[in-house]
Amino acid sequence: MTSAIRRATADDAGPLAALAAVTFPLACPPSSSSEDIAAHLANTLSERHFQDYLADPDVTVLVIDADGALRGYSLLVNRPAQDPEVASALTLVPSVELSKCYVHPDHHGLRAAAELMHASLQAAAAAGGSGVWLGVNSQNARAIRFYGKSGFRKVGSKSFRLGATVEHDFVLERAVP
Ligand SMILES: CC(C)(COP(=O)(O)OP(=O)(O)OC[C@H]1O[C@@H](n2cnc3c(N)ncnc32)[C@H](O)[C@@H]1OP(=O)(O)O)[C@@H](O)C(=O)NCCC(=O)NCCS
Repeated sequence: MTSAIRRATADDAGPLAALAAVTFPLACPPSSSSEDIAAHLANTLSERHFQDYLADPDVTVLVIDADGALRGYSLLVNRPAQDPEVASALTLVPSVELSKCYVHPDHHGLRAAAELMHASLQAAAAAGGSGVWLGVNSQNARAIRFYGKSGFRKVGSKSFRLGATVEHDFVLERAVP
């Protein structure tokens, strides 16, 4: 199998939505209801939403393409942080948001995520960022460990609404390489 990281194109919108449906639930705390997860997928991670992301000049989507099958993706947003909790926590500006970073569970622990992170940091630097920031659920221990290994440190926290529940995310940042 050959695997490569590349920029997503409009043709990837459908496969990205399918991959998001597999990977988004893995980032949610165990208490999340299936209804809230399904609503979040429909409201932010459908094929139509990915079409919009892919058409947005401030957004970069990278995919891990394994012989034509998408096995991971990241989504970077090159806009100033709107959330006041985030804006006040960041120490590096301009900062690019690593809004999504998801790898198919069959590829966890195999360095695929590290390679996706490396490419994402390079893309953030190419977009002119001094820093990269992200929000990660405070109960997502695996992702927090992965981001720590990737050079991120906690600079604050923010709230994230999933259905009726308010989740608490850590805000992490690092300098671009
Ligand atoms: C986050 C993600 C991209 C990381 O990729 P990965 O291949 O799992 O990352 P790695 O295996 O390199 O690193 C994970 C680390 O967490 C550790 N880990 C695994 N489960 C853990 C747990 N329950 N608690 C603490 N650490 C844990 C692993 O041992 C590994 O650390 P090590 O290399 O020191 O042994 C991937 O797990 C993923 O897509 N998860 C689902 C979606 C998600 O949560 N995305 C992030 C949203 S912000």
